[in-house]
Amino acid sequence: MPERQHKIFNIRTFNQISPRGLKCFPANHYQVSDTSANPDAILVRSHNMLKMHIPDSVLAIGRAGAGTNNIPVTNMSSRGIPVFNTPGANANAVKELVLAGMLLAARNLVPALHFSEHLQGDDATLHKAAEAEKKQFSGIELPGRTLGIIGLGEIGRLVADVALKLGMKVIGYDPKITIDSAWSLSSAVKKAQDIEEIIRRSDFITLHVPLLDTTRHLINEENVSSMRPDTILLNFSRGGVIDENAVLAGLQNHKIKYYVCDFPSQKLLHHKAVITLPHLGASTLEAEENCAVMVANQLVDYLQNGNITNT
Ligand code: MLT
Repeated sequence: MPERQHKIFNIRTFNQISPRGLKCFPANHYQVSDTSANPDAILVRSHNMLKMHIPDSVLAIGRAGAGTNNIPVTNMSSRGIPVFNTPGANANAVKELVLAGMLLAARNLVPALHFSEHLQGDDATLHKAAEAEKKQFSGIELPGRTLGIIGLGEIGRLVADVALKLGMKVIGYDPKITIDSAWSLSSAVKKAQDIEEIIRRSDFITLHVPLLDTTRHLINEENVSSMRPDTILLNFSRGGVIDENAVLAGLQNHKIKYYVCDFPSQKLLHHKAVITLPHLGASTLEAEENCAVMVANQLVDYLQNGNITNT
């Protein structure tokens, strides 16, 4: 019997991917919401679907990425619609950007680049100006510094691994790993008792938890005040995991030297010690392909065989 051709609507995600006979129709928000369009499934990356009308024809949703906070998961579950995501498929890309963020901050590279951009004159003048001003951009090195990782899923673990290889001390905490026997990380990663211990002991803190009710404002006024002076805070998870006012206060009183984040926010965007990226964590050729193939295979398996994997 020939396999049924499914109609998968693909919201600005990966038009080039059609593995295992999966035919994807590039679509926008309005086309998907159109009840007469009858999609069987919707593929999405970070497009916000929370207020979108999901037609009754939809049998499954695929999210090409780890976070599902842009999808009305509870509502979909109550309608019996599985949401497939791709934890791990983009973890290496995020890890590499976290490392880049740590180095940008540790070596004051953003102000240094701005300084270079504004230099003018002949070579001798440029050289003189660079030599005269370079002291203000002097940074710190990573070996021997303590990195605190909050959230030890796929990304947190990869970050731990690279930090250890670079000679950093690594302490980790994961709100979900509560039993000691489940702590299967390298013995070189020390387990912190709680978030407060990470906050008190770390020179760099990196966040790798999903945005849930329990993780909203995990970094808040109270714990920012117990940070070490000049802590470098990295957030490649979701903006809501930090309380922006608390981070602003931390920047003002030098508890935080830099806040490096992957999400623009009006409040923090133009602060000189905030390094903002436009949600680039998973934006590599490899990660996009890994996520697309993984989620498309999950959808095919579900639509054609009824198998549910990785929801
Ligand atoms: C994710 O949830 O995997 C990341 O936010 C990356 C992305 O989807 O662009």
